[in-house]
Parts: sequence; C-alpha cells; structure tokens
Amino acid sequence: DKSNVYVNQLKHHIGKEVTLRGWVYNSRASGKIQFVILRDGTGLCQCIVEKASVPEELFDRIKHLGQESSLSLTGVVRADERSVGGHELAVTDAQIIAPAEGYPITPKAHGVDFLMRHRHLHFRSQRQWCIGKVRHTVVDAIRRFFNDNGFTLIDTPIFTTVVGEDQTSLFEVDYFGSPLHLTQTGQLYLESAAMSFGRVYCFGPTFRAEKSKTRRHLTEFWMVEPEVAFIDLPGLLELAENFVSYIVSRVLEDNRSELETLEADIGLLEKIQPPFYRLTYSEAVEILKGPKTVEFMARDLADLQSEKARTEVRIAELEQQQGGQIKQWQKDKIAAELIDLRSALAETETKIENNPKHAQLAAEFAWGKDLGGSDETIISRMHDKPVFVTHYPREAKAFYMKTDRADERVVENFDMLAPAGFGEIIGGSVREDDYDRLLAKIHEQGLSPETYNWYLDLRRYGSVPHGGFGLGVERTLAWITGEKHIRQCIPFPRMMDKVYI
Ligand code: 4AD
Ligand code: MG
Repeated sequence: DKSNVYVNQLKHHIGKEVTLRGWVYNSRASGKIQFVILRDGTGLCQCIVEKASVPEELFDRIKHLGQESSLSLTGVVRADERSVGGHELAVTDAQIIAPAEGYPITPKAHGVDFLMRHRHLHFRSQRQWCIGKVRHTVVDAIRRFFNDNGFTLIDTPIFTTVVGEDQTSLFEVDYFGSPLHLTQTGQLYLESAAMSFGRVYCFGPTFRAEKSKTRRHLTEFWMVEPEVAFIDLPGLLELAENFVSYIVSRVLEDNRSELETLEADIGLLEKIQPPFYRLTYSEAVEILKGPKTVEFMARDLADLQSEKARTEVRIAELEQQQGGQIKQWQKDKIAAELIDLRSALAETETKIENNPKHAQLAAEFAWGKDLGGSDETIISRMHDKPVFVTHYPREAKAFYMKTDRADERVVENFDMLAPAGFGEIIGGSVREDDYDRLLAKIHEQGLSPETYNWYLDLRRYGSVPHGGFGLGVERTLAWITGEKHIRQCIPFPRMMDKVYI
C-alpha cells in the first residue's frame, strides 16, 4: 500500500516506499536512467526512473513528459546529500496525471515583460516560490508580534472619505454617484480605535495613484499599521526596531534555505538587532551635503565601473562558448545566464549614469525638502543596520504629524530606512493631539474641516498623546530577500505603467 507524502516530509520516510505527487520541474536522460526533478509545492526531489525497474511503455512515456506535466511517482526514499533537498526517490511505479507540452517558461532567456505576462505560471519558478514562502513568514510574524504584545486587530475601511497621506495620489471611485477614494492608510480610523483599545493595529491593502515608476512603488501594496495611546517618539522607535528585528529573526528561523536559494545577505540579516541607528533629518542633511557623501559617491562610481568591466568580460566569455560545439541544454543554460548578466550590466550602466546626478542632488540638498529616493539610498547604504531619520520639516510632511514643541520647524516623526540601499520601509509619527493646532493644519493644507470633523472629535473628547507607524510589506520583503524590484514581492503586482494579469 502506497502512502502519499510531501517532499518536505521525506526525512521521516527514509528506506520506505512512498508516493509523491507533483509536477515535472526538470527531466533529463542518462543512458537507461531518467532523472525527473519533481516539484510538489513543498520542495524539489530528484526521482530516479531506471529502465529496468518500470514497464518499458511507462519508461518511454516518462522520458517524453514535458516540463510541468503532473504525475505521481512511487518509490523508495534514499538520503542523498548531493541531491536537491537531500533525498532521492528510486521509482518503482508511476502514474501520469496530465501531460504538459510546450510549457512557455523554459530555462531559456525571458525578459521581465514576458515573465509578468506569464505571472500565473511564473509562480512555479524557484525564485518566486522562495519569495512567496518568505512573504508568508513575514505576514505571520507581523500578526504574531502585535497579537503577542497586547495589540487588538482593527480592520479599517478601504472605501474612504478622508485623505490619509497625500491628495495628489488618490484613486477615486464612483460610489453610487458621489466620489470616494480607495484608502491610502487606515491610520485616521485606527487613531479612533486606539482611544477605545489603547494598542491597535490594522493590516490590509493600501492604494496610491503615485505617478512614479520606480522599483519601490506599487499602486496597490500591503501595509501594517500599529497605533498606540500614551506613547512618545522614543517609545515608537523602540517599538519599530523590536518589531522589525522580530520579523527578520523569524525569517532567519523559518526560511533559511529559501534565503540561501535567493542569495540573500544572511550575514547582514543576522545583525538586525536593536538598537538601530538614529539620525535627525538635520543630521541626515549634513551628511548628504558633507565630505562623507562626496567620498562615498566617488568610491561607488569606481566600484560600479570595475563591476561593469567584470560583467563585460564574463559576457564575452559566454558568448564565445555559445558559438562552440556544445549540447542544447548547455546552450539553454548559457542563454539564461546571459540574460541575467545583460540585465545586470544594464543596471550597472544606469547606476553609473545616475551617480553624478545623485551626488549633485545630495550636495545641493536644501533643508526643508523631503528626502528623495536617491538621498535615502545614500544614507541607507552607509549603514549596516536600519536607520531612523526623525524630525522632518513640517512642510514636507502630512497634516496629522505633531509639531515639535521644542522646535516648531519640525514634526515628531520618523522614517525607518532599511540598510544596503533599500530605503524607506516604515513611516510614522506622534500625532498632533491639540485641537487648535490640528484644525490650523487642516486649513493650512487646504483640506476640508467638515470631512475631518469626526477626526477632530478625538481631540475634543479626552485627547491623549499617541502615535504609530506603517510598514510596507513588499518593501520589507524586497530588503530581506535582496530582490531588486518590489514587483517580485507581491503575487500579482499593480504598477503605474502596467497591470499584466
Ligand atoms: O510613509 P507612509 O506614507 O505612511 C503612512 O501611510 C502612515 N499613515 C503610516 C502610519 O503612521 N500609520 O507609508 C508607510 C509605508 C512606507 O514606509 C512604505 O514601506 C510603504 O508604506 N509604501 C509603499 N510601498 C509600496 N508602494 C508604494 N507606493 C508605497 N507607499 C508607501
Ligand atoms: Mg513615507
């Protein structure tokens, strides 16, 4: 009798006969043996089909199965360190469930556009699978952290009347004839809940019609937002660093093999422990305009140029091999490596081109502006742990942020910049809790006081110091996995220029 098991359970079945069900990830012949790498959703397993061990007709059918054909394979489990996943299946019986022919995503070269149009299939690739597994852990860790620390989950609405962040990036919806928009943040609703529950969080999709086509922007992304009554800025920073450290430690615990496959920087992740670095906005501006940045950018340019030279040499080598007498599978492998190298080269060239622009932007940075993406990148690349930047100029920030009573030019806010160039992953602040000041800010930013009347109520009836922050799941995931583009960090990305499927 055959027992169905999953690949990630094979260690409990060594020496026994089991059945695996899944898809052909890869298949190659070597004489009288067919090596089938089976993918079953929990991992990969090399299955060895010997011509002598199965009926001839079945051997032939397996031999000709295309990539992604579904089948079940029965055999004896062997431990084998050299094999993918550490086990092998010596096949004794097989059943083909549904053959697949001409699967469009082969090891051959594919551009980003092609892969995005085939996102529904691209999911089956190792890289996407690993990112999906890490995302699962990140989401679980987010909930666990807040649930274990006395926070109550409050679901905030997606259709909303208030502008949470920025009036220029609203998605309007026709709500039975009157305009509403999709939420940019649950924060304002969450503030009202904090006055009831004390410590709350919301977690859901967020929408921004941001007209920026960068590797950090989605129009639909997931954000988790805690909000706490009776907290100050140092308290918020401590909460945020404990929170992010917990997420990273959980991923290190649960997803080490995925991180290895993704070639994430595990050494750097292991350093992610409190305390994180703390800079004020004014200190950050000093750094950007100072000699440290000039030196940093010059060194970066030199590094990029030698990286470019190295990549070009490797490309030339591979192109030469490609022209030689080699097997088709070797050609496919080289083609796949070439596409990676060419896109890496293009990226390096863009960085070389942008280096002087970014250096100049930093040198000419004027106090009062919000930090731009390239400024954040510079600061975050100078650090091996996340950096808090606090106390931004009030003009650059949202209306609800509390004016610093010690320096009225700035607000009591912070951004957390992930290290190694990933930029902002958290934005947060203490909220303006004074009725008159909040009303003045609503007028100042041209918002309608009627719309915010309910929000002002929170300052009319027992206002208390409070604050919170929002962490973007996809940006956090891009940082942890080392994925360059945020579009790979959400199952079905929505971007300004394109919605593929
Ligand atoms: O800094 P933001 O705009 O902060 C807020 O929305 C606050 N209301 C949160 C709060 O205090 N409760 O956004 C928070 C985070 C950013 O740091 C970033 O990680 C992510 O949300 N984010 C985006 N992620 C992907 N694509 C975009 N277009 C994003 N915009 C913000
Ligand atoms: Mg922000």
